[in-house]
Amino acid sequence: MPLWNGRFRTRLDPVALEFSSSLAVDQRLYREDIAGSIAHAAMLATCRIISLKESLRIQKALKQILREIESGKFLLKSAPSRNGRFVAEDVHMAIEQRLIKKIGSVGGKLHTGRSRNDQIALDERMYLRTCIGDLDALLRKFQSECLKKAEAHQSVIMPGYTHLQRAQPVLFAHHLLAHVSMLQRDRERFEDCLRRVNRSPLGAGALAGTSFKIDRRRTASALGFVGIIENSIDAVSDRDVQIEFLSACAITMMHLSRFAEELVLWSSHEWNFIEIGDAYTTGSSIMPQKKNPDMAELVRGKTGRVYGDLLALLTVMKGLPLAYNRDLQEGKEPVFDAADTLQSCLEICAKMTRSIHVNRKRFESEPQADLLLATELADYLVRKGMPFRNAHAVVGRVVTECISKHLSLKELSLRSYQRHSKLFGKDLWRVISLEASIANKKSEGSTSHVEVRKALKKWKAFLR
Ligand code: ARG
Repeated sequence: MPLWNGRFRTRLDPVALEFSSSLAVDQRLYREDIAGSIAHAAMLATCRIISLKESLRIQKALKQILREIESGKFLLKSAPSRNGRFVAEDVHMAIEQRLIKKIGSVGGKLHTGRSRNDQIALDERMYLRTCIGDLDALLRKFQSECLKKAEAHQSVIMPGYTHLQRAQPVLFAHHLLAHVSMLQRDRERFEDCLRRVNRSPLGAGALAGTSFKIDRRRTASALGFVGIIENSIDAVSDRDVQIEFLSACAITMMHLSRFAEELVLWSSHEWNFIEIGDAYTTGSSIMPQKKNPDMAELVRGKTGRVYGDLLALLTVMKGLPLAYNRDLQEGKEPVFDAADTLQSCLEICAKMTRSIHVNRKRFESEPQADLLLATELADYLVRKGMPFRNAHAVVGRVVTECISKHLSLKELSLRSYQRHSKLFGKDLWRVISLEASIANKKSEGSTSHVEVRKALKKWKAFLR
């Protein structure tokens, strides 16, 4: 029998129970649920709502239940079944039923001044808190792996792209550090979200509070919250922090997908810029030569799924009248799915990054790689007094000539250069060097060796 059965004449149809049970999803909140119940039971005694003896009995039994779950003796997992056997509606009911079975009617005192509505809101916040901590550690780990790769390849030059067309030479380390910065903002988003997550809804009751003189602040601080969500209706109604969490997950996945896409491109034969370690690639069942970047592709693919999770919760919440509605139960799955997906993606990205072999000579040995220096050449003319717009046009014609004659910028004769502009002189050759183009960058945050070394040092100190 469900614990709420008092006012009903017929039993819940097993199909309806199976339909409405969230146990398969929320069973993973058992630790949070039990911790919340222990804090609540302790507070009930402190506030003299139940006796100390009763409270201690309840707390002891709850701790036993935790051990039973952890050792597999008490199986929450039992999925809803159609054989008529009662299966708990959710994790809260399952644990409370177990408690009552263990210590009898005194167990029934636990739910005094509390509702499953504030209970689930509490559990979800405690879960998010832990989860954000775990994600932060994983993000940091991935940042560290990017940083290590960057440090180990400080002098490697690669083409920077815009429109996926070769644009200007940049240091590979500079490119990797761009990802490190993006990941840092992801960490900040989660950290910021945590500030709003870390408030306790417990004691809001079903929606109106309770007639017992409970101490909400006591349970909040016992559970490590920085405060309470004051308005009891707000406390049980909203899932905005979950939406914020999912947004942060979606944005992070967007970042990971771009990183993953680069690995896919760079490891292709056409780029041949990196090789992903064997342990993170797979073969083909038909084409013996293949080495496929499946892990990177999956990270890219799973991004869509996390976007879906965000949209799912936004849609569940849209237009819901206050306060609690059972619809809210549907909000947990997307949160768990996004959290699990992001965790596994971050883990694989960190490992995959570590495994990357960089083909450092790939671009420098390419004859026409110096076409990337066209902007340098235009800047050269500007320094000789030509307005930038004219310089741009002149160099454009130089490049066209090089391409049509299959020459690199370095291979074109000075005479040819001077046919385009008299301002070209012998010092021209000093500009046509990938190395010089990097070294000559002067602006803060640029790809110059000096700036990249500064950034590496900063991140190293920060991530330590
Ligand atoms: N399983 C429910 C949920 O996840 C817990 C709260 C149920 N409350 C209720 N009044 N039916 O939202």
